Amino acid sequence: MTQKELNIRYKEYGSPDELPEDEKCLAGEAIEATVNSYSPYSKFHVGAAVRLSNGETVRGANQENMAYPSGLCAERTALFYASAKYPDGCMTAIAVAASQDGKICETPAYPCGACRQVMAEYQTKSGHDMKVILVGSRKTLVFDKVDDIMPFIFDSLRQK
Ligand code: THU
Repeated sequence: MTQKELNIRYKEYGSPDELPEDEKCLAGEAIEATVNSYSPYSKFHVGAAVRLSNGETVRGANQENMAYPSGLCAERTALFYASAKYPDGCMTAIAVAASQDGKICETPAYPCGACRQVMAEYQTKSGHDMKVILVGSRKTLVFDKVDDIMPFIFDSLRQK
């Protein structure tokens, strides 16, 4: 047996205004996207913005349904929309923000496992690291790649 340890590197900022310009821009798009959330049940409005290497940005917001499991998180809404719109596109970054009671949440909404898995696959497909920006009005985190929020990614193609 060997005891192992895993280190995750990420950057922590206060408000998204402290981010470098391009990241701040994408964070702003995720914040704006929260407005398009359809979340009458949770009243938790999540927005996501995906940046592609062609310069385009695709936004998504969580979509809920009376039959609860039929809804979809903001991240997957944006990622699937980006892939449907630009099937050969290269996704380079995703930003996520959430709002409640008309205010952007102070701490980020951390993506669920299913969304992390979907990010991971598009990162592999893109052949490029996908930056993950988790936006909160008082705490904003930046991860250089999806692996940093999801170690030991499932990838059947690389299974030996
Ligand atoms: N939700 C997201 O859209 N993304 C997250 O990262 C966390 C949760 C949504 C799902 C549901 O519509 C609502 O937030 C409450 O869980």
